[in-house]
Amino acid sequence: MIDKLTYTDDNELIFLDQTLLPLKEKYVKTRNYKDVIDAIKGLKVRGAPLIGIAAAYGIVLGVNALKSDNKKNFEIHLYKLFDEFRKSRPTAKNLFYAVDRLMKIYNENDDKEIDDIKIMLLDEADKIYDEDIEMCRRIGINGADLMGEKMNIITHCNAGELATGGIGTALGVIYAAKQQAKDIFVYVDETRPLLQGARLTTHELQKNDIDFDLIIDSMAANLMKEGMVDCAIIGADRIAGNGDVVNKVGSYSLAVNCAYHKIPFYVAAPSTTIDFDIETGEEIVIEERDPEEVGFINGNQIVSESVSILNPSFDLVPKELVTAIITEYKVHYPPYNFKGIRHLFQSYIETISHKDEFEE
Ligand code: MRU
Repeated sequence: MIDKLTYTDDNELIFLDQTLLPLKEKYVKTRNYKDVIDAIKGLKVRGAPLIGIAAAYGIVLGVNALKSDNKKNFEIHLYKLFDEFRKSRPTAKNLFYAVDRLMKIYNENDDKEIDDIKIMLLDEADKIYDEDIEMCRRIGINGADLMGEKMNIITHCNAGELATGGIGTALGVIYAAKQQAKDIFVYVDETRPLLQGARLTTHELQKNDIDFDLIIDSMAANLMKEGMVDCAIIGADRIAGNGDVVNKVGSYSLAVNCAYHKIPFYVAAPSTTIDFDIETGEEIVIEERDPEEVGFINGNQIVSESVSILNPSFDLVPKELVTAIITEYKVHYPPYNFKGIRHLFQSYIETISHKDEFEE
């Protein structure tokens, strides 16, 4: 497994700088929560579940740096941390999920000593990380059941080990299918503008010994027309109650292409990516990123300065285009009603959290 993020006994967070991959494997060590916020904003740490995990440990670094034993100061500082992390990226639900979990721990224990609260916050961050590893494993198994003996799969962006605590979501399905001795071939969308497919997914698939071709995003429709694609699997940044999915920009085009060619379009995500409080994807905030990400490639300017650029980081795949959503709990088919089964996810997470006691 790729070593992407570790919190050490020495109160350091060590993370792999994903902006430099695959050419350089550089690890950044920090005790400063602001470095974690910068890493999330700058996509050094990215992918919805990993952003949530990094934010949880970032908050731990932030509280550990506070030396005052004044309870009021501690609370003000903690709430400032929650707020700063919430503002680091707007779309990935997992970020807000993780911050809310730490906030709940604080609210339930605010009468305790500061040192005890610090330990509880760290325990919760560890739990979020461990649960994500287990959720990925279960998503992989659930999704692999959908795969035939020989599959050509197209994927977009990077929803693998580098994006999660565990083996990944979309790529987790691929790894699990391969483990079941299925014959898997992957087409990797390069994923403009920041090339998470070209830089990260190819890197991961090579490390995991999966056969693939890298393609430019605009080639997908033609591959489908030629009968070379059996299904698409992508991850998600946020899923609405009705099954609308927001994921890396280009996901919508891929889904439209799949629908036109009658190819299944699967989304793999943990329940921590589902926003149970919203009805439809229209309510999801789509992050707008710096136009330079489009106007420059590897630091080289490719368009004149006067060119106006749109750079939304994500787009919305309407539920009608989603064949099934694979979570850690099961494979969900339309009509999706995540709100109605929220309680089932909640009790399921409890079993995951205590998996040593519950594991078959
Ligand atoms: O901007 P990024 O690289 O964080 O975008 C990542 C994606 O869109 C992933 O597909 C999504 O977060 C799911 S990761 C399991």
